[in-house]
Amino acid sequence: MDLKKLRVSGKRLQSTLEEMAKIGGTAGGGVQRLTLTDEDRQARDRFVKWLKEIDCEVTVDEMGNIFGRRPGQNNALPPVMSGSHIDSQPKGGRFDGILGVMGALEVMRTLHENKVQTERPMVIVDWTNEEGSRFAPAMVGSGVWAGALQRDWVYDRRDITGKRFEEELIRIGYKGTVPCQKFPVHCYYEFHIEQGPMLERQNKRIGAPKGILCLHWYDIYLTGEANQVGPTPMDGRHDALVAAAEMILKVRELPGRMGGNMVATVGEIQNYPNSRNIIPDRVHFTVDIRSWDDDLALKSWDLLRADVEAIAGRHGCPAKIEETWRVNHSPFDEKLVQRVTEVADELGYSNMLWVSGAGHDASYANQVCPTAMIFVPSIGGRSHVEIENTRWEDCEAGCNVLLHCLLKAALEK
Ligand code: GLV
Ligand code: MN
Ligand code: MN
Repeated sequence: MDLKKLRVSGKRLQSTLEEMAKIGGTAGGGVQRLTLTDEDRQARDRFVKWLKEIDCEVTVDEMGNIFGRRPGQNNALPPVMSGSHIDSQPKGGRFDGILGVMGALEVMRTLHENKVQTERPMVIVDWTNEEGSRFAPAMVGSGVWAGALQRDWVYDRRDITGKRFEEELIRIGYKGTVPCQKFPVHCYYEFHIEQGPMLERQNKRIGAPKGILCLHWYDIYLTGEANQVGPTPMDGRHDALVAAAEMILKVRELPGRMGGNMVATVGEIQNYPNSRNIIPDRVHFTVDIRSWDDDLALKSWDLLRADVEAIAGRHGCPAKIEETWRVNHSPFDEKLVQRVTEVADELGYSNMLWVSGAGHDASYANQVCPTAMIFVPSIGGRSHVEIENTRWEDCEAGCNVLLHCLLKAALEK
């Protein structure tokens, strides 16, 4: 057959995504499929079943990463790999992550039903805990696989209720026996929604990110002094929440102070004992700093850290600061990025180069093998929210770009 004419089934991709969206589906039309929960297990089970239906060999490694392998004609050659993540944010959307796993599955289904033989084997991957929302940090499955994170350190991470990562991995039945370590890969493509507004603003269908910003995560723990709010005078209080509030405003001001080209966010806070008539004595909050410029991000942290310490001192609320996670900015392989735009041109889809402000497992894959991503527009630029949405025609278009990028790579000798 003329492989140039090969196309995925947009309808099948849609129904697969709709079926997955029922697992952890929320009343607001999104999904909540936090990593290593029962919903994650259910979605993984479904994915494994679908892999087996198209004769993929399934392996699960000791981090719970799931690999589905489709043999090629020359299985001694390193495979072409593609995938993303099945886990979601709390009250997240129906596309983030899952599109890249189900998109790669749709590509494999298309090859399977058309009996297409490739030179190289092809591998679909579902990376464990991309989101980092239940267990920080993010992208730990790909991070351990790439050798950038320590397996046992990740195993010991705890969620907000004190549950250990490794125990939850065992509980859902996905602590595999295969060592989690990188193996030779010819190239890696990750298909994802843009999660920002640029494709829509520029009226383009396909985005080819040149790379991903650096991601730096910090955790700040403040200790104050609890007391009855009525009788305690305003002076001399050690109010951990007020100290945190001042620090959070410093985070908000940071990008402006550094002259732009970065973003900084506090997204999570716990306040104890969280009662309206007790002065808070314990606060934990997170800081997320991202930039294309690793040094700028580090310099901004130095300034912020000094502010945090000064504010903590002024309020008499000592701060414990944890530098939880750093991933350098990740420029993708230029040839692979170019292939995304070339394939999009060949298929008649408008396209543009861009950068990814969102983190992806592709950052770590890029440390192991040539890597690129394929983006499709997010309606209204909204993501990590229940109303996250992407037009089905765009999902289909992006999946066709993925098909032909993977096919070209898998036919290489
Ligand atoms: C992952 O979704 C991130 O960008 O934080
Ligand atoms: Mn994602
Ligand atoms: Mn996400």
